[in-house]
Amino acid sequence: PVLVVDFGAQYAQLIARRVREADVYSEIVPHTMPAAEMLARDPAAIILSGGPSSVYAAQAPALEEAVVTAGVPVLGICYGFQTMARALGGEVARTGQREYGHTRAEVAAASSTLFAGQPEEQDVWMSHGDAVTTAPAGTTVTATTPGAPVAAFEDDERHLYGVQWHPEVLHSAHGQQVLVNFLRHGAGIEPTWTSGNVVERLVEDVRATVGEDRVICGLSGGVDSSVAAALVQRAVGDQLTCVFVDHGLLREGEAQQVEEDFVAATGVDLVVVDARERFLGALAGVTDPEEKRKAIGREFIRVFEQAARDIVHSHDGTAGQDDHPVKWLVQGTLYPDVVESGGGAGTANIKSHHNVGGLPEDLQFQLIEPLRTLFKDEVRQVGLELGVPEGIVWRQPFPGPGLGIRIVGEVTAERLALLRRADAIARAELAAAGLDRDIWQCPVVLLADVRSVGVQGDGRTYGHPVVLRPVSSEDAMTADWSRVPYDVLARISSRITNEVEDVNRVVLDVTSKPPGTIEWE
Ligand code: XMP
Repeated sequence: PVLVVDFGAQYAQLIARRVREADVYSEIVPHTMPAAEMLARDPAAIILSGGPSSVYAAQAPALEEAVVTAGVPVLGICYGFQTMARALGGEVARTGQREYGHTRAEVAAASSTLFAGQPEEQDVWMSHGDAVTTAPAGTTVTATTPGAPVAAFEDDERHLYGVQWHPEVLHSAHGQQVLVNFLRHGAGIEPTWTSGNVVERLVEDVRATVGEDRVICGLSGGVDSSVAAALVQRAVGDQLTCVFVDHGLLREGEAQQVEEDFVAATGVDLVVVDARERFLGALAGVTDPEEKRKAIGREFIRVFEQAARDIVHSHDGTAGQDDHPVKWLVQGTLYPDVVESGGGAGTANIKSHHNVGGLPEDLQFQLIEPLRTLFKDEVRQVGLELGVPEGIVWRQPFPGPGLGIRIVGEVTAERLALLRRADAIARAELAAAGLDRDIWQCPVVLLADVRSVGVQGDGRTYGHPVVLRPVSSEDAMTADWSRVPYDVLARISSRITNEVEDVNRVVLDVTSKPPGTIEWE
């Protein structure tokens, strides 16, 4: 792999993604990993990320010299560039001239590997207080900016490269080309990480891991669990059984999408459990958001466990050494979760998130996580490669507890039906306006215990408001409310108030996150 050494910037994941967009496999490792351990992974190249630190700070994360002298091609970026310069005998100084944001770089395109084929002047995005003042012996300076006399250097012989700005951000005009030049020409790596190859590799891995064992997978209809299931299905065919729990908190058409489209596209063996009554029963009288979430999570696990036992019985004696022939549980865990849990400090419990796609870890299964090396965009590509329906591949996030946490107040069958209608209208209009991929998601929330007076026809109405909550986000950790065009909002509003009985008002949520969360409960 290409190792991306994380010096504590939020850019490490972005770098790793950009490398993969260049069709090269990358992995993130912490800067605290000993050089010997990094080199033991036999990296094709090493990229040193930026970081918030100054190389002068007392706690500045250090770079072991071995990383840059072992003969492995290295690219240093920002902080990684400076710490690399020092390790090679160059000088870094506090120039007093900070550069944040856009700046112009002059690059020696004709005589450079990193900048080959690019304009001599380019817009780049920087964020630094210190600067390299003397390039290490044996390297050639290939770029300057107003605040950085040495904004890039390279040494083709030792395959060492460094750049002060951030080629991984889109604001750096030719950034991706810089990374590609490093990977292809600086490090001589073949671009073989394509979705076709990835599918093949992952399928092989699953086959090798699972052998003859039986596997089950909880399907939620979301992207991750669907692609994970399709992949395992491709690998081991009917050794896999998927369990889809219809808890009645789904949106219009979702159960169908899984039961018909997904099965038709993948040929997966699917057990659908109709647990709608059971969930309604568990939610009767419950209005507190945390209680709802806990009730939904608890019921889900019970239903899933029962389904798993049924599968075990129906396959009794076919594969197991003991009385437990289903050995593996598929989880749709993605790479960012894996990276984050590697260094995860405890965070405050804002909401009890419940991932209906999987979880029950206390079941007697071993976990198989076929997507644990992939980023979300790669999961989507893999899904397309496997023939997962586009409606699932491009689905916006939808919370496991579903519409249950979008009804403020008690959840009842009538209220669910009403919200489902309103949600379907909002989704249809946003899709028709071509906004699906601009908007991260748009919860539609029913304020079930609120009534307001309206007038329709010649009569007074006394109905409920629904809230539109369109948000833009990159990762759901922070979000802003989306500036949906007024005419689209107008269409949604008039359709909902006309077509959904008992709703006489549509309101727009204009709160960012923080302070609001995306969902209302
Ligand atoms: P909040 O409301 O915390 O939501 O800002 C952030 C993102 O997470 C989704 N969400 C959930 N997803 N199980 C899930 O799988 C949950 O319990 C859950 N709660 C919220 C939410 O839709 C948004 O994308």
